[in-house]
Formats: sequence, structure tokens, C-alpha cells
Amino acid sequence: MHSDIANYIPRGAKNISPHGIQVGLVTSDQIGGSNVLKPNEFSVRSASVHDAMIMESIEREAFPELIPLSRISRDITRDNGLYLNAVRKWRPSEKKLKSRLMIATQAEKEDPRLSAKLKRSINRYFLDYINPPRLPPDYIAGFVGLWFVLDEAHVIVIGLRGVDRRKGVGELLFISALEQALANNSKVVSLEVRRSNDVAIELYRKYGFQKVGLRIRYYSDNGEDAVIMTTPPIQSDDFKDHLFSLTQQHAEKWGWAVRPGYSGH
Ligand SMILES: CC(C)(COP(=O)(O)OP(=O)(O)OC[C@H]1O[C@@H](n2cnc3c(N)ncnc32)[C@H](O)[C@@H]1OP(=O)(O)O)[C@@H](O)C(=O)NCCC(=O)NCCS
Repeated sequence: MHSDIANYIPRGAKNISPHGIQVGLVTSDQIGGSNVLKPNEFSVRSASVHDAMIMESIEREAFPELIPLSRISRDITRDNGLYLNAVRKWRPSEKKLKSRLMIATQAEKEDPRLSAKLKRSINRYFLDYINPPRLPPDYIAGFVGLWFVLDEAHVIVIGLRGVDRRKGVGELLFISALEQALANNSKVVSLEVRRSNDVAIELYRKYGFQKVGLRIRYYSDNGEDAVIMTTPPIQSDDFKDHLFSLTQQHAEKWGWAVRPGYSGH
């Protein structure tokens, strides 16, 4: 199911839903009626193996407590998995920096220890020249990962770089993930989240997820419980209407974002 081609629609489902949400090549005109929405700087595309190095750095930044890290490069190619990236064009100032510094997390860039400073210098003056990392064609702000198991879609991860939070990008990724779950004919979407992660829980609640259980001491770093959250049946008209309305509000606030199944203007 997974592909390196940007904007691949898993399992080929198109225009599956007559009620509210359409999954196919839909334009902003169709969503916004006659009001053409301003474009969002960010868009969503499928992740490719070439993105893995940057995605792993985003993962280190979004989940500093996660040891060991997940194996994104392996997971991207899973048959029943889908990773979506929120991307924008590189800014000219960033392009000049195409180096290991771009891959580093904020904490790694600012680490004041002598060993960290030495490592940054070796990277900058030596490794970047002899073996420059291959960077993706666009700037990646964050990603969401989904697994499709039987008739359920499971959100395994969603995370952004610190500088890109609170700008509607996490919500954009979440919308796109739900659209793909619909396109895959999943019946429900589920996830686990740390009990203390109020920000993420707010986002999930907004999209109709409800707490249905706990996994006691699920996280090994601090023994925190995981809250299990699931949607109501996503193929129901109520859910699609809710998603459609939130998607429209998001586009009005942040601009229309190109994403798998949804073309540009
Ligand atoms: C969770 C996360 C992806 C949200 O992304 P984001 O781009 O910052 O969020 P958005 O700006 O799109 O906000 C969308 C919604 O999330 C919730 N939200 C986001 N930031 C919030 C905050 N600081 N406080 C409360 N709610 C918040 C709100 O419901 C918000 O909707 P609203 O704008 O109508 O209030 C991001 O904070 C992140 O990467 N966190 C670290 C990793 C993580 O905890 N991932 C989740 C566990 S798997």
C-alpha cells in the first residue's frame, strides 16, 4: 500500500463518500464553495525513505523521552502502514544550511557541552563536505504515522518540530490521517496517548475521539499510563459531517492545504 510517490492514495479509494467528505481529487473551490481560500504554506505528502533521517530528528525533538527510537525507515515501507509528512518549500536562508545542522534537533543545536560543540564543528567543517547528508526536496515540519489493521486504523505517532507547533500543522496532519482512514474503508480510528499529554488529548477530542480505557504503566521511561482513545464509526454521516466542518474551519483559518486526495486551486 505504501509508496514513495507523493500524494499516493492508499488502496486506490477515490470519491468514496457522498456525504460531506470526498476523497479523491477535490479542489479548494469544491470545499469552500464559491469562496476561494488562501493557500496554506504547508501541504501533506506521503513520506519516502529519503525523508527518514529528518523524520528521525523530528521524532527525537517531539519525543525526547523515547529510547530507543522507533525505526522510521523500516516502518515507512510497511505494507499496512502510511506515513504522511507536513512540508513546505525550503526558505533560501535554510537552503544555504543544507547540512547536518538542519537535521539536528533544537536541543542538539544548542547543547552547550564541549563534546557537543566539538561534534558540531566536525560536522560543519569536515563531514558536511566529504559526505553531505541527502536532504528531502522540501522542509518537513512533522509527520503522522498510521497502521491499518483489519477494519481499524491506528495512529501510531504524530509529532512536530517545536518551532512549527501551534500553527495548525499538527491538525492538518491529523485531518489528512483521518481522510486516509476513510479512504481505506477503516471503520474506526484508535490511538494511545500519555495521560499527561493534554495538548494532544485536546486535539483528539476535537476530532471526536473518546477515552475508552487505560494501559497501566504503558510507557517504560516513567511508568506513565496510556489513555486509549477511539472515534465513533468514521463512515457514519455524523462523523464525516464533523470532520468536514472542522476541515473547512481549518482551511478558513490557516489556508487551503494540498494533501493526498485533495489537489490545489
Ligand atoms: C500534538 C501536536 C502534534 C499538536 O500540533 P500543533 O500543530 O501544535 O497543533 P495545532 O496548532 O494544529 O492545534 C490543533 C489543536 O490541538 C490542540 N492544541 C494544540 N496546542 C495546544 C495547546 N498548547 N494547548 C491546548 N490545546 C492545544 C487544540 O485542540 C488545537 O485546536 P484549536 O486551535 O482549535 O485550539 C504537537 O504539539 C506535538 O508535536 N507535540 C509533541 C509530540 C506529541 O505529544 N505528540 C502526540 C502524542 S503521539
